[in-house]
Amino acid sequence: MVVQKLFPTLVYSARLGAAAGDKLGARLLRECLQLREDDAAGRRWSAQRYPGGYTSYGSAHRMHRMSPTFAALERAIDRHVARFARSLELDLTGRKLAMTDCWVNIMPRGTAHGLHLHPLSTISGTYYVRTPRGSPGLKLEDPRLERMMAAPPRSARAARENRPWVAMPAAAGSVLLFESWLRHEVAANPVAGERISVSFNYSWF
Ligand code: NI
Repeated sequence: MVVQKLFPTLVYSARLGAAAGDKLGARLLRECLQLREDDAAGRRWSAQRYPGGYTSYGSAHRMHRMSPTFAALERAIDRHVARFARSLELDLTGRKLAMTDCWVNIMPRGTAHGLHLHPLSTISGTYYVRTPRGSPGLKLEDPRLERMMAAPPRSARAARENRPWVAMPAAAGSVLLFESWLRHEVAANPVAGERISVSFNYSWF
């Protein structure tokens, strides 16, 4: 008897890099907080679409072009995206995966980010800047879920790879990558400390 596993969903996580990563993290933290102070348009955008929180998604979504600190983050993440693309065995036909968007997210207690995907990108991900103890991870959804019309639920003790949702822990200083078609969400932050992250998209066209 042979049971084979086909069509895996790959998710990549790594520390960004030792000492240099920590120094970069501290600079990013300062700039994320400063951006919220300076970005009135983003605060207005967030009040409508990101209740309680701040995101620069609607106002300053190319931070890698605006700040040397975020440009350094881009260079660090480029290496991880290249590794992930090799794991996925993507045929890019000579084109390069490049960062197209890069934005800041600050989630105080009670702020959530509902289920969504990034439809016009190839690889998306997040770098975690500050993750207070107890703040939520990134919840990923089985991309086949909408086709499972008569499928029984999975056992409560099912292996992680067989579960319909998996929460990837958010750890400051680490980067998480996934293919942009994979739906994901962040549950409401239940703790007092602000959860701060930088999200980004890469595209090959
Ligand atoms: Ni997202």
